[in-house]
Amino acid sequence: MPNESIENHLRNSNVNAFSASRRLPSRRSIENRLLHSVVPSFTFTALAFRTVLEAFQSAPVTHSPCHSGNGEGELGSILAGMAAPRLNLDGEVIKPLKICMIGAGGFIGSHLCEKLMFETDHSVLAVDIYSDKINHLLQPGQKWSDRIEFHKLNIKNDSRLEGLVKVSDLVINLAAICTPADYNTRPLDTIYSNFVDALPVVQYCRENKIRLIHFSTCEVYGKTIGSFLPPGHPLKQDPAFYMLKEDETPCIFGSIDKQRWSYACAKQLIERLVYAEGAENGLEFSIVRPFNWIGPRMDFIPGVDGPQDSVPRVLACFSNNLMKGEPLKLVEGGKSQRTFIYIKDAIDVVQRMIENPSRANGQIFNVGNPYNEVTVRELAELMTDVYCKVSGQKRPEQATIDVTGMEFYGPGYDDSDKRIPDMTIVKKQLEWEPKTSLYDLMESTLTYQHATYAEAVKRSMSKTTVN
Ligand SMILES: NC(=O)c1ccc[n+]([C@@H]2O[C@H](COP(=O)([O-])OP(=O)(O)OC[C@H]3O[C@@H](n4cnc5c(N)ncnc54)[C@H](O)[C@@H]3O)[C@@H](O)[C@H]2O)c1
Repeated sequence: MPNESIENHLRNSNVNAFSASRRLPSRRSIENRLLHSVVPSFTFTALAFRTVLEAFQSAPVTHSPCHSGNGEGELGSILAGMAAPRLNLDGEVIKPLKICMIGAGGFIGSHLCEKLMFETDHSVLAVDIYSDKINHLLQPGQKWSDRIEFHKLNIKNDSRLEGLVKVSDLVINLAAICTPADYNTRPLDTIYSNFVDALPVVQYCRENKIRLIHFSTCEVYGKTIGSFLPPGHPLKQDPAFYMLKEDETPCIFGSIDKQRWSYACAKQLIERLVYAEGAENGLEFSIVRPFNWIGPRMDFIPGVDGPQDSVPRVLACFSNNLMKGEPLKLVEGGKSQRTFIYIKDAIDVVQRMIENPSRANGQIFNVGNPYNEVTVRELAELMTDVYCKVSGQKRPEQATIDVTGMEFYGPGYDDSDKRIPDMTIVKKQLEWEPKTSLYDLMESTLTYQHATYAEAVKRSMSKTTVN
């Protein structure tokens, strides 16, 4: 783009991408300053603009470029003063979107809302039954307050949902029952939540031509092919028998009486429906298959901020045991292998999906960290070590105990032996890779768990003892 059209380009592209309090310098002053700047012959293509900005900012390019902290020299201050627009991976200006986020009050939703409020100009219609995890964003008088609205509604039976979808540019559906302890004990609620309740969302998106990012799960892969080989078979070590690829790996579930697969099966069917809406009716969609995203605000601690008799997912289960000084319960010896990814790494790639529709539409994405692979037993050992470090607590003599799947989850228990995400598609389409090691993500997460819950856990234990 020639220099003389910079101002027009900036004005026409995305007014809201500029800080409201800053005014664009006049065209003449931009031209003058560019003429006398340190790079006089600089050609301002959108891509080059981003390259220069990146050089001037140590923070990732996804940050609002209003800050001028590292911009040394005249060009840096010009760029900072212009509060340059944010650009996507193809160098296109990112327009502010109105996003209807269903399930915004949950673990992933709360981190995504934070990211969108702190680092972008997008607006969020946050839909959920609960708002506890995003209340800090909903307080009036914050600089993003006019960009987030909470709509307390149950999508099962609330006609307001359609209206919210209609006024949005993008719908992100995170709402689900997604805790393994529920799959066996509440299979009907699980199937209704993950399939039936998601149906109208897909239908409203299709009817109103609204783009959809639907959250599925790595559970749709079910069991690995390798798990059907006899013990000790050499092919078990072959990645082809356990590496999970979006466009190749079959989805293999247990028999119907193994109700554990109710969740995976409902998620698979809604994936197939979303995909079919894309193929037959042109729905613009992306499907995300998370592989164990973990971090602060995941689930609840039983008896503190959740029901005493409920069983959360593994991170909160093990944290609860650690804070109570109990051994961590390993189902069937904790031999299943899993990969864990830090929520903040994973949220980065969701932002890329949001802002790069031409790269994300029509795709199914595994999102995990194949480098953070451990058995559940190793995870328990690591969490014990890290928790002792962050809390100053002594390592217990017996850190773990073994329980059967039947004892822990009840009848209908079954499992997958190993789950390693193939990351080829997400890496190619969205130029993204996870960064945070298992140790680092555990350290920050358990520091949060300890600071947030340890005292309350102690109080609830002393109450139980007194009673
Ligand atoms: N966290 C992970 O590692 C992981 C792994 C696999 C899949 N997923 C999928 O990602 C999505 C989000 O997961 P999460 O970890 O944030 O779960 P979460 O339970 O923390 O959040 C889900 C949110 O949806 C809300 N919700 C559920 N039913 C609703 C309804 N009928 N109406 C309105 N709100 C409703 C809940 O109140 C909750 O706040 C889910 O679809 C889940 O299946 C997550």
